[in-house]
Amino acid sequence: MLDHLKSNNRAWATRKVAADPGFFKRLEGQQAPEYLWIGCSDSRVPANEIVDLDPGELFVHRNVANLAPPQDANYLSVLQFAVDVLKVKHIMVVGHYGCGGVRAAVDGQRRGLVDHWLHPIREIQHQYRAELDALPDERARLDRLCELNVIRQVRNVASDVFVQDAWARDQTLSVHGWVYSLHNGLVNDLGVTTSRLEEVDRLI
Ligand code: CO
Repeated sequence: MLDHLKSNNRAWATRKVAADPGFFKRLEGQQAPEYLWIGCSDSRVPANEIVDLDPGELFVHRNVANLAPPQDANYLSVLQFAVDVLKVKHIMVVGHYGCGGVRAAVDGQRRGLVDHWLHPIREIQHQYRAELDALPDERARLDRLCELNVIRQVRNVASDVFVQDAWARDQTLSVHGWVYSLHNGLVNDLGVTTSRLEEVDRLI
């Protein structure tokens, strides 16, 4: 079963060691990534690959539509470990244009549990209906909703007590909002980087 994946794995490990004989020994010793990536589960948005980072360099949390819900124990555990233990310097919330999760949130179809998960996106749509309705077509509205969702999740992360406590003890930590384009492989920085307590109120 899955023999092609196992053989891919053997070839990958062999290539890594050939390029850098100490690679796995070093990684085994400790992980000290400087970045936490909060991204979408979409298979077309592979975190490490997009920013060309090796194993050990990026701490990753992914879920449908890159949400950071303040009641989600999974996300909160990742966030606390990243901030308090790993002491990452940057947290990137990374959405992507053409996100199926964002589209599913607002297309009116019933899918089950995921409809509850995606509820925060419907709230953002409701809040920004006037801005979204002024856009020329459905695609532009969904792309903007992807951006608004990222900005809202940056706010969720930046207003979390783990992050606020880190800033209160002068730990260096910035929260960034990016949207990745499936079309050209490039990341669009939304310019909402938040590095201090006082900056949180600028976010939506
Ligand atoms: Co997505």
